[in-house]
Amino acid sequence: MLFPDFRGRRLRASGNFRRMIRETKLSRDDLILPLFAVEGKSVKKPIDSMPGHFQLSCDHIVTKAEEAKEAGIPAIILFGVPDTKDELGTRAYAADGIVQKAIAEVKSRVPEISVITDVCLCGYTDHGHCGVIDKGIIDNDASLDLLARTALSHAEAGADMVAPSDMMDGRVGEIRGLLDDEGFTHIPVMSYAVKYASAFYGPFREAAESAPQFGDRRTYQMDPANALEAIREATMDIEEGADIIMVKPALPYLDIICRLRDEIDLPLAAYNVSGEYSIMKAGEMMGWVDAKALVMETLLSIKRAGADLILTYSAIDVAKELNA
Ligand code: PBG
Repeated sequence: MLFPDFRGRRLRASGNFRRMIRETKLSRDDLILPLFAVEGKSVKKPIDSMPGHFQLSCDHIVTKAEEAKEAGIPAIILFGVPDTKDELGTRAYAADGIVQKAIAEVKSRVPEISVITDVCLCGYTDHGHCGVIDKGIIDNDASLDLLARTALSHAEAGADMVAPSDMMDGRVGEIRGLLDDEGFTHIPVMSYAVKYASAFYGPFREAAESAPQFGDRRTYQMDPANALEAIREATMDIEEGADIIMVKPALPYLDIICRLRDEIDLPLAAYNVSGEYSIMKAGEMMGWVDAKALVMETLLSIKRAGADLILTYSAIDVAKELNA
């Protein structure tokens, strides 16, 4: 049908019509809020490159979790900023580590919210890489056991789901195996399966104090040029037992989200990462853009591309907006 028989504007003419024919809807159910936990009491240290976000001690983590729950958000994801780092990232899998304590606090004070944990070593190793180092090289297989122990320690502390973000080959299988052996068959694994070596992680590395001290992450994170490889990575993690597949970052990789949505039948998550958040905040602070509108449009585009879940630093604001 062509103009004048077809007129696209007819169904755009009123708010009601627009509501009735809207194809994609953003919901509070889609949102996961990342939080950064630090040691101490009453600590709320601003993260300069991520306005509105803080490194929070456990008491403040609980307050934020409560706020997220009140806004209708189903889950938070916790990152830990330990007091000490070492070669093997031992504070990542310590029973009294910062994430383990934060999990226990949230689960006892705000049991209604689900707690997901980021499983990685980069915030805990003195070299800042996501695996252990042997002769200057990130040793894949030697890292697997430590990653699995980290995931197990999170489950033991009460985490509801674990999310490995290290990009070592084989870690999903290793984690699934150890969780199963130790009686945690019910804990799902959300795999950062398709994680690109991205400049958009910059602000996060300030937040988590996890910048690599030498080299970069290109020997384990994916080349932004590759799309077929995303299918291989996702397929491999599904074979190893992943329950949810994640693409990260989100906005520069909408094509990847779209492709994976056609290829796989697991729930798909997308991480709207720190750089995506900070750019919009910066634009807002300059008075150049309406950040609230940009965020809503961005998250909608991520959903439209095919993501079921979105990890976003704007989760609370967005949930409140959706409630309004
Ligand atoms: C840890 C990890 C990173 C992010 C999540 N988990 C950083 C990285 O890989 O360097 C980035 C999140 C963000 O930028 O918001 N491996």
